Amino acid sequence: MHPFSRRHFLQDASKAGIAIAANFALSPHLLGQSSPSNPAQPIRIYADSRRTLAPINRDLFGSFLEHLGRAIYEGIYDPQSKLSDANGFRKDVLEEIRKLGVPIIRYPGGNFVSGYNWLDGVGPKANRPVVLDKAWNTINSNQFGTDEFLAWCRLAGTQPLLGLNLGTGTPEQAAALVEYCNVEKGTRWSDLRHKNGIAEPYNVRHWCLGNEMDGPWQIGHMTATEYGLKAEDAARQMRYVDPSLKLVACGSSGPGMPTYLEWDREVLEQCYDYVDAISLHRYFGNTTEETGGDSSKYLAMNLSMERQIDEVAAVCDVVRGHKRSPKKLWLSFDEWNVWYRARSGAAVNGARQSAPHLLEEVYNLEDALLVGGLLNALIRKADRVKLACLAQLVNVIAPIMTNENGLLRQTIYYPYSWALEFARGAVLDLVVESPTYDVAGMGAVNYVDVAGTYQSETGKTALFLLNRDLAKPHEIQIVWEGSSPRAGDTLVLTGSDLKATNTFESPARVTPQKGEQPSTSAGRTTFELPPRSYTVVQWTA
Ligand code: AHR
Repeated sequence: MHPFSRRHFLQDASKAGIAIAANFALSPHLLGQSSPSNPAQPIRIYADSRRTLAPINRDLFGSFLEHLGRAIYEGIYDPQSKLSDANGFRKDVLEEIRKLGVPIIRYPGGNFVSGYNWLDGVGPKANRPVVLDKAWNTINSNQFGTDEFLAWCRLAGTQPLLGLNLGTGTPEQAAALVEYCNVEKGTRWSDLRHKNGIAEPYNVRHWCLGNEMDGPWQIGHMTATEYGLKAEDAARQMRYVDPSLKLVACGSSGPGMPTYLEWDREVLEQCYDYVDAISLHRYFGNTTEETGGDSSKYLAMNLSMERQIDEVAAVCDVVRGHKRSPKKLWLSFDEWNVWYRARSGAAVNGARQSAPHLLEEVYNLEDALLVGGLLNALIRKADRVKLACLAQLVNVIAPIMTNENGLLRQTIYYPYSWALEFARGAVLDLVVESPTYDVAGMGAVNYVDVAGTYQSETGKTALFLLNRDLAKPHEIQIVWEGSSPRAGDTLVLTGSDLKATNTFESPARVTPQKGEQPSTSAGRTTFELPPRSYTVVQWTA
């Protein structure tokens, strides 16, 4: 299959009657959210800071930069730009990402990694080969490689999640990259790093063992058993070099795959003992196939992300049982986002140019609302998902876009930035009573979707609320079952036009507004959520 035809593959799969997760029925009761019969009742949320589910690992709000389109070249690295520093790093982009506080960034791919030779991207820049990246039909000058990325990460205040080539690459080459990055000195690859001017080891902890190896579009695509054996071999060799690594095996590319879950099971039967986590990927769209273009169904799609998490976790635990292993794997949701417009034709074919405009999805208000819901799903599942990456970060299916004069915050930037700023501490085990609406193929869905966090050190509580009701506001009543907090600040993302976007010409069509200050008395807080909105409220103790 042609490497650019993943979408068609998925369409074919669904035509052939293969269920995609968006069509699974979901019960709100299974999601811990119950439904009173009277839809006019206020939505009631019971919160108790003593009742938490799990600590939130900051890596839950990571992101992704692939050698794809203008993500690296022109995005974060552009030596010709007036906005760049002496390293060629775009200063405005670096500062934006540093201020956002993105904890971990996956690099260099994605599909790109499965044909990438990391040795092409290190050493004197003048000697690096110009190569054809076959995943995206793009010219790669290799002027930005592992050392540049790891230097950039330090400046951006983030950690790397390095992807390894298990397509055309070998386990030996994977272990060599670990040696290059993490061994102090005195070995072939650590000495090469010294020769390249870097004395200190980088100590990269998190690694992905390949990318979407279940996909026929992937360079080096193979069967689950073949991949499982290769991942096991790579992991073993890598751990000989550095036993402290955290390794993520390549799980299914999504619930639309014909081998969904079976792939994960077979892979883990081979390599369970050698890895720490398995990956999940998922992209959502308000498409005819997925939602029939119905925005109220689209805004419920975060529930199928939650279901995907439960299903993959269940597979991990079945294999754990087979192996009688004391180890419980965690999940790495290392690609997730909305992506459905810039998905075929010229949008994915680099036409053998450098830094072509690929996957430059323009996001609207409803996409941002769903991204808020997807973040809620990740927060609620933080007991199992320890790492996740919004795919991607700059120019390619991204919250941040650049041109030669500056950057633009797309609509999806805002819910992501709120998670980074406010979702801290532990996940609250909330009880939610909400009226519901029926979604074809999904059943009853709560009008209001809620996630919450509590920081014991500061006493701060944050709630993230998606009002899926496209027409009506909803009154919220929070019942504080433990101690009740005082002042609350509210930010709201909403608007009259679900299809409104931000552009370089009109960058503030969709931006957060300060919401009504919620009032608390006798242990209850009340406030109103506008229709089609995503809201964060933060209370101090
Ligand atoms: O993020 C864009 C692409 O989507 C990645 O390269 C691939 O892993 C996924 O299919």
